[in-house]
Amino acid sequence: MTDRLRVCAVDELDPGTSMTVAGTSPAIALHRTEGGDFFATADSCSHEEWSLGEEGDLEGDELVCPLHMARFDLRSGKPLCLPATLALATYHVVVEGGEVFVAAT
Ligand code: FES
Repeated sequence: MTDRLRVCAVDELDPGTSMTVAGTSPAIALHRTEGGDFFATADSCSHEEWSLGEEGDLEGDELVCPLHMARFDLRSGKPLCLPATLALATYHVVVEGGEVFVAAT
């Protein structure tokens, strides 16, 4: 069985925004696209240490790090442009009963 962590209620994270999941180590970021889909990735940008949960921008299904403008695919965590060359870890998200949970995969 995989441990899962309750992050928040669905309506606590606005579409088009991200948050850092409290109490995770390494830190996990939860993202909700404008379309309402939830994704979870490593919180720290893979280029340098920068919180994507606190500072990342969402554009469709892409996550943009505003520090040096690296882009990542939210589904795979793969970098889409330089300066990032390493993928972000991704985590399985479950939405159940109006609550959002993240599980390590
Ligand atoms: S720290 Fe994210 S692109 Fe440089």
